[in-house]
Amino acid sequence: MSSIPEELIEQVRDAADVVELVGEHVQLRRTGSDYRGPCPFHGGKHRNFSVIPRKQMYYCFVCHEGGDVFSFYMKHLGMEYPAAVRAVAQRIGIAIPERASAGPDPREPLFSAVAAAHDWYQRQLREAKEADRARRYLKGRGFDLEVLLPHGLGFAPGGKAFLAGMATLGVEERTLVAAGLAVEREGKTRARFWDRLLFPIHDLRGRAVGFGGRVLGDGEPKYLNSPESEIFHKGRLLYNLHEAKQAIRKAEHAVLVEGYFDVIRMAEAGIEHVIAPLGTGFTEDQAALLHRYAPRVTLLFDNDTAGLRATFRTADQLLRAKVRVAVASLPEGDDPDTLVARSGRRGIEKVLRDAVDVFERKMQLLERKGWLADLSGRRRALDRLLPTLRAAADPVTRDLYLTRVTEALGVSRDAVLREMQERAPARPVQRPLTSPAPSRQVSLARAERIVLLAMLHDRDLRQRIIDVGVDQGTLAPVAREVFTLLVEKPPNVPPGELLDRLDGDAQQALESLLREPWPQGDGVTVVAASLDELRGRPLEHEIAQLNRAIPLARDEDKPDLLRQKEELSRRLNELKPGRRWNVIRTRRGSAR
Ligand code: UTP
Ligand code: MN
Repeated sequence: MSSIPEELIEQVRDAADVVELVGEHVQLRRTGSDYRGPCPFHGGKHRNFSVIPRKQMYYCFVCHEGGDVFSFYMKHLGMEYPAAVRAVAQRIGIAIPERASAGPDPREPLFSAVAAAHDWYQRQLREAKEADRARRYLKGRGFDLEVLLPHGLGFAPGGKAFLAGMATLGVEERTLVAAGLAVEREGKTRARFWDRLLFPIHDLRGRAVGFGGRVLGDGEPKYLNSPESEIFHKGRLLYNLHEAKQAIRKAEHAVLVEGYFDVIRMAEAGIEHVIAPLGTGFTEDQAALLHRYAPRVTLLFDNDTAGLRATFRTADQLLRAKVRVAVASLPEGDDPDTLVARSGRRGIEKVLRDAVDVFERKMQLLERKGWLADLSGRRRALDRLLPTLRAAADPVTRDLYLTRVTEALGVSRDAVLREMQERAPARPVQRPLTSPAPSRQVSLARAERIVLLAMLHDRDLRQRIIDVGVDQGTLAPVAREVFTLLVEKPPNVPPGELLDRLDGDAQQALESLLREPWPQGDGVTVVAASLDELRGRPLEHEIAQLNRAIPLARDEDKPDLLRQKEELSRRLNELKPGRRWNVIRTRRGSAR
């Protein structure tokens, strides 16, 4: 309704004690680590209403009302959100400037729509006949409904029920569409989520802004998430942060896991400082957000190739935000969910205790591959370590890493620093897990393209190229396939038939070659130069290897390596005048 600055709202929430403030309206008594009392919402007599100081939340086990201190003021005292914030602020003595109100937030209808949908979905999971399968599914995975409901889990049935339910509440269809809860196709509106278990995703204020929807059992996609909207930004939110942030601040530490179920299972096991990204690569914004709450993060991802790749990418992102990063290693085949289900809190705590610094973890893996043993391995090892070295934005962390790498690889600090300053390769674009990989562009290097084009378009040149010979080892695999076909094909085969003899990348490559024009004029010259270039490739490759190895070599080995490099350069230069070039040119000339 108004724009009280987000930081101020957070400050109020952090300073407010939910037990004290709710306790002004409800008779609370301590029970273990929580407080219990009669529920003011359904007017119960028994002490089913609990206030949980660790989470700064309340929840009724009978009527399932739940929320934070602001929602208590809203629901119990009938206030709008900004009024509730002001009231709480006043109770605890924080001043909110009056003129901070600057008219209504235009996104208010979207928040309301998601809130209404959230309530509705939760009710389905608790009560609806259609949710039987969902309840059985959860039970089958060993989840107790009583544990899941406070996390706000819901169920979306198929059919028209959702739209009908929202219509009854007066939520307009176009608002549902704008909030990502419905889709419009051919003039018809349809619910987005069908037959899915829904995990609500909250913003920092604890407002539901979107959902992650899991299929029951197998099916594709496994998770369907809310689309980006005015209020839902996957790259800027973290699952469960609204609940975990108190615990994270207190522990000065957060545990980052991959999935929604992992979060819930860990929270259930009493590990509350746990969060997850939303099915996208971990972003710079998420790293900055987390840095506001914790100086230290432990990554607890799958211990397989994909999981390790995600681990190190995420770690680099966090290091850039000056967060210290440790990596915990799960037993292979486990995720936090399955580990807790099998070996409980103690199992997961042991894994967390054994976490090692991300740089150390990288070194461990490189050592296990045997890469620290010889020069070329050490070169590759340094290449793997460089992104992490570069990412470490905190000067102390960076210095520690530098020391570690110089000792382990026997390289001088200067050499590593020089490497670090060299232009870092462009970072790969981060793609959400759910979107398909973009179709791969098969692109051939220029030299290969020219040789192949000549063979396609000019019978005479084709024969000459075959006579002169091309060392197929110098061709990229896709080019080699096309080349072989063009060598073997009888003359005058139409292009369509050629295409039929290839498949996959090679077929695609030939297809794009067929679309390219062939320069008639200086064709011979460019073909000759291209052949030279191909011949020089193995030498160039060896020289590049040496260039990268020399800075890492022991001083006494350097003269020998430099001599090798000079010899290779000399041979490369001998190729340059283009002997083949001349052979082709003269023959062509005489043919005319
Ligand atoms: P996982 O495939 O590891 O699923 O994806 P999970 O969370 O362990 O779920 P269960 O235990 O198999 O039921 C990890 C996270 O990646 C995102 C979700 O956020 C999920 O929790 N994800 C995964 C998607 O967004 N879309 C997908 O299709 C798959
Ligand atoms: Mn899982």
